[in-house]
Amino acid sequence: MIKVEQLNKVFHLKTGDVIGVEDVSFEVDAGEIFGIVGYSGAGKSTLLRCLNLLERPSSGSIYINDTDLLELPQKELREARQSIGMIFQGFYLVSSKTVYENVSFALKAAGVPKQEWKERVTELLRLVGLEDKVDQFPAQLSGGQKQRVSIARALANNPSVLLCDEATSALDPNTTQSILNLLQKINRELGITIVLITHEMEVVKKICDRCAVMEDGRIVEQASTYKIFSQPKNELTQKFIATVLDINLPDKLRKECTGTVVQLKFIDGLASDSVVSDMLQNNQVTGNILHGKVDYIKDVPLGVFIMELKGTQKEVDQAIDYLYKRLKHVEVIQHGTHR
Ligand SMILES: Nc1ncnc2c1ncn2[C@@H]1O[C@H](COP(=O)(O)OP(=O)(O)O)[C@@H](O)[C@H]1O
Ligand SMILES: [Mg+2]
Repeated sequence: MIKVEQLNKVFHLKTGDVIGVEDVSFEVDAGEIFGIVGYSGAGKSTLLRCLNLLERPSSGSIYINDTDLLELPQKELREARQSIGMIFQGFYLVSSKTVYENVSFALKAAGVPKQEWKERVTELLRLVGLEDKVDQFPAQLSGGQKQRVSIARALANNPSVLLCDEATSALDPNTTQSILNLLQKINRELGITIVLITHEMEVVKKICDRCAVMEDGRIVEQASTYKIFSQPKNELTQKFIATVLDINLPDKLRKECTGTVVQLKFIDGLASDSVVSDMLQNNQVTGNILHGKVDYIKDVPLGVFIMELKGTQKEVDQAIDYLYKRLKHVEVIQHGTHR
């Protein structure tokens, strides 16, 4: 559906060149929600703006449905752009126009006959849950409602792709949830492919099928959201994950431990398995659970437990071997002082 190959964007400024995006490649399947995360300045917005050529890449290719956007003549490019909707953190509604006018503006721009506007706008506002706000002005709406209007406007011309630039970053947590629910509904019911960029891992966790992590213009890691959360490889990815899955022991508690402290990860639904009780039955150690948490990443459980194991060094080593054989994801986070 979307295929980006070796994309580069360099800004040539008087003060020198600034790299926006460097050697970025990824693919997004039709019907997917693909997330791109990174800190401010990572190049997320530049990358997203390249996807609909709001920003002209310095080199590389962008295929949307097998068409190379960079090869299209002006007229075809304009048409192709209509199949790509976009929403932003700042909404960009026209303050002097009503909700109706803000949405119908997109239809007008696409040359849709005026007599068709009313029905289409009504349909769009119903989809985003704002039928009763049709004659209001943006200043009379909450942030979440403004974003709903901008979503309606972005969907006006039946795009196959929706690009979202930090669409929930200006919203409170409850409103964020409701906008994410709406994006998910649009994805599922209308089959619209979504590419969203965010600095909030929580957003990725909630709705993205796959995601990429960006740093200094590059993609440093990409995988399914579950894989990213359960087995992050890159240091930056690990940092992002830690903001959502808080699995660190308080220092004080850790210092008080005399046994070996291990972290166990239960990946792909093993959380209900009896590994820990089997380990205690089959090994001469005592185990003390210090921390335990099961998170759900798009409905698949990811369990992380921290245990202190006590016994002789040999017994503890055997217990860890046993856990490793059953779980694979076992990490010693502090060695104990064993007999
Ligand atoms: N129009 C521009 N002119 C010059 N530099 C830019 C421009 N847009 C972005 N940049 C630079 O490109 C880099 C990436 O910025 P951006 O894509 O906005 O990051 P993000 O969206 O991840 O915060 C930054 O160093 C930024 O200063
Ligand atoms: Mg940005």
